[in-house]
Amino acid sequence: MKDIHVTLAPGPHLEAITTQVAHDLNGSIRKLHGKTTRINLLQWFRHEFGLSSTNGIYGPENPFKDPKVEAGFWAFDDNISDLLITPKASFTCPSGDRGRADAWKGFAEYFANNGHEKGSELVKIRHKHAAERCLSDLDIGKLEVTMIIGILTNTVPTIFWAVYYVYRDATLLQDLREEISKIAIKTASEEGEPTWTIKNVDLKSQAQLLAATIDETFRHRTCGISSRYVTEDVTLKGQYLLKKGTIMELPNNALHSNPEYWGASVDEFNPRRFLANPRSAEAKAARGAFRPFGGGASLCAGRHQAMSQMLGALALFIMSSDCDPVSGSWNFPGAHGHTIAAAVDLPSTDLWLNVKPRKNFESDYWRLDPTAKE
Ligand code: HEM
Repeated sequence: MKDIHVTLAPGPHLEAITTQVAHDLNGSIRKLHGKTTRINLLQWFRHEFGLSSTNGIYGPENPFKDPKVEAGFWAFDDNISDLLITPKASFTCPSGDRGRADAWKGFAEYFANNGHEKGSELVKIRHKHAAERCLSDLDIGKLEVTMIIGILTNTVPTIFWAVYYVYRDATLLQDLREEISKIAIKTASEEGEPTWTIKNVDLKSQAQLLAATIDETFRHRTCGISSRYVTEDVTLKGQYLLKKGTIMELPNNALHSNPEYWGASVDEFNPRRFLANPRSAEAKAARGAFRPFGGGASLCAGRHQAMSQMLGALALFIMSSDCDPVSGSWNFPGAHGHTIAAAVDLPSTDLWLNVKPRKNFESDYWRLDPTAKE
């Protein structure tokens, strides 16, 4: 775990991942250029984020490029709770059981063929620790498929919800476009069409409303639980005895939905909530109550990669595309914490959207530049 945190901390190891992810996101947005595309939003991001994240982490031999491995992983994830409690999964949960076997096989072959040697420092170090303990390629592959739950199953629903919250609110969409246009630089592309470049570094330092919108999305849709082992008897508030040797489950959405911390507007989606002055009473009350990435010793190691990917993808989507729900209105699609492993709600139904080039920018291209420094 220590080495996982090191390889995902800001620095050259993380940059190698975020650079590849940004490059792939540019390709994803380019596919939408110049035409109206009808997409299932969640499915679209499952594929586009699925490939960009895994290309960044597993390198050119990425097993996720095999559609059988990709489909297998999502079948596994969709059925994970059932698989955990079912003894004869091949009878009771056949698609999840088959899916995980396909995903395991792809990753076992990847390690057997030394594909990880061309991948990120993260996968190299994970392989090194497992191989030193004499795990077989199949077992290392199985462990890696579990890691992908962390890598993918929260970023994908987060971007789904962020797109939903932004596009259902025309004012927010307009404000975000104004914010991002201040950092977008116009050049001419090879095809002679205008191309706008957005530096990842500027998104991080100057797109406050964009980041605050993602944070408010997290506040609403967090379903993660931090689990903690109680190492000594402790009494909280003179009232609650936590016994040594037991496990505490801390559901983060209990904090995110408590009016004591967020005030009377707790149930509203307010994208400006996180723009409040940190010294204000409002911000002070909420301090410590915002835990989308958990906290303490096991705070999410992938939070920097996740935020970089979400800021980049949301900025590109907003600047390049208009989108309308095929149903005619932005109805709330329903939400539930789909598996015990998830930290972000999955929508109950996918959104069927017409995505078309942004009005008045029909022929323009939009791209991220992850390499520029401050
Ligand atoms: C929206 C995206 C994400 C969310 C909301 C999220 C959320 C979480 C949460 C709630 C935890 C548990 C923290 C605790 O115990 O208090 C966690 C742990 C972890 N996450 Fe994430 N995560 C996300 C993306 C990622 C990504 C992209 C990666 C890897 C590239 C990742 C890797 C990890 C790891 C390795 C841990 C375990 C850390 C430890 O126990 O030391 N996560 N995450």
